[in-house]
Amino acid sequence: MKYTRTAMTLHWLIALLIFVVFPLGIYMHELPLSPIKLKLYSYHKWIGITIFTLTLLRLLWRTLHQPPALPPSISRWQQTASRIAHYLLYALLIAVPVSGWLMSSAKGVQTVWFGTLPLPDMVPRDKALGELLNTVHKGLNITLLTLVLVHFLAGLKHHFVDRDGVMSRMLFTHKVKSS
Ligand code: HEM
Repeated sequence: MKYTRTAMTLHWLIALLIFVVFPLGIYMHELPLSPIKLKLYSYHKWIGITIFTLTLLRLLWRTLHQPPALPPSISRWQQTASRIAHYLLYALLIAVPVSGWLMSSAKGVQTVWFGTLPLPDMVPRDKALGELLNTVHKGLNITLLTLVLVHFLAGLKHHFVDRDGVMSRMLFTHKVKSS
């Protein structure tokens, strides 16, 4: 059994965007104030909100579909660990962009998605709150990066060491279901 084409597309699109937005966040933060820095901040926010939207779609998919069953060779504790890791990943893929959105509001810089859709500021302008949310955004990002690494290494182990087909369920290279 495999994930559907929709689930795989959302999974790999989100993975790709994280791969872009994370280093961009670190790079832009180090730059001196300039028009290019401000432009990169906008790109970072747009990609971050896109990840948030795709994650909501992914959660919707998840409520409408059962993920394919794991092979019986996977022990009970590994199944529980993987379920917890996946829930945490979903939670962080919501919490990281939302903390960025709230930080921008508190710092008084409204997020305008792709320069066209203004997002509501959900907290008042407040310098101290902005600094706090900046620390929260950073801390959540470190947790997300750690979990993504564990998730990635677990996938590689299943594919190359255990050879149990767990990772192939999320690869386009085999026959897939369409919805
Ligand atoms: C999954 C989505 C996101 C990821 C992985 C991410 C990642 C990061 C990272 C790694 C940094 C650098 C932290 C540092 O070294 O200080 C950062 C900074 C920042 N992020 Fe995000 N971010 C995401 C979404 C967002 C969103 C949606 C917004 C706003 C709408 C946002 C606003 C910011 C801002 C303003 C900074 C700079 C803070 C500063 O320079 O003081 N981020 N982000």
